[in-house]
Amino acid sequence: MSVVFVGAGAATTQRTTADGVFTVAQAKRGAAVFDESCVSCHPRQSNGTIGTLSGPVFAARWREHTLDQLFERVSLTMPENAPASLSPQAAADVIAYLLQINGAPAGRAELSATAERLADIRINWTVSGSDII
Ligand code: HEC
Repeated sequence: MSVVFVGAGAATTQRTTADGVFTVAQAKRGAAVFDESCVSCHPRQSNGTIGTLSGPVFAARWREHTLDQLFERVSLTMPENAPASLSPQAAADVIAYLLQINGAPAGRAELSATAERLADIRINWTVSGSDII
């Protein structure tokens, strides 16, 4: 589902994380990045979610932001013990994984590892009957 903004005679379509903006394979690579660089401080819960990076508080904090902001948060400040050590690709992959565990659907194309392209994608967790919020 997309939101269409119409203004000054021009229509642009803004994509959201409900539109399938990463692939299953990418999220799988992101899970491996997560296991290597993140899980020590962001442990998984028994149901597969990650306490600090999923659930209502996380969802509320990031909702309506655009993905470049989450990308920059991760690529510039995480892992907290080695900031800015992830490659752009690894950061994009791990974000695909975070989107997946927060209930966003996978799609056909990978998430870009370029911040400018991620600025076009708005975070929208309320997808497919998700009960996250
Ligand atoms: C050495 C511990 C440590 C590691 C490793 C680590 N983090 Fe964090 N992370 C934190 C702490 C502490 C915070 C919250 C405090 C802060 O704002 O920095 C945080 C905050 C975050 C946030 C913001 C959460 C929010 O609610 O806004 C994200 C996203 C995040 N981490 C992702 C990651 C990812 C992805 C990795 C792996 C690439 C990672 N972190 C690795 C300690 C860590």
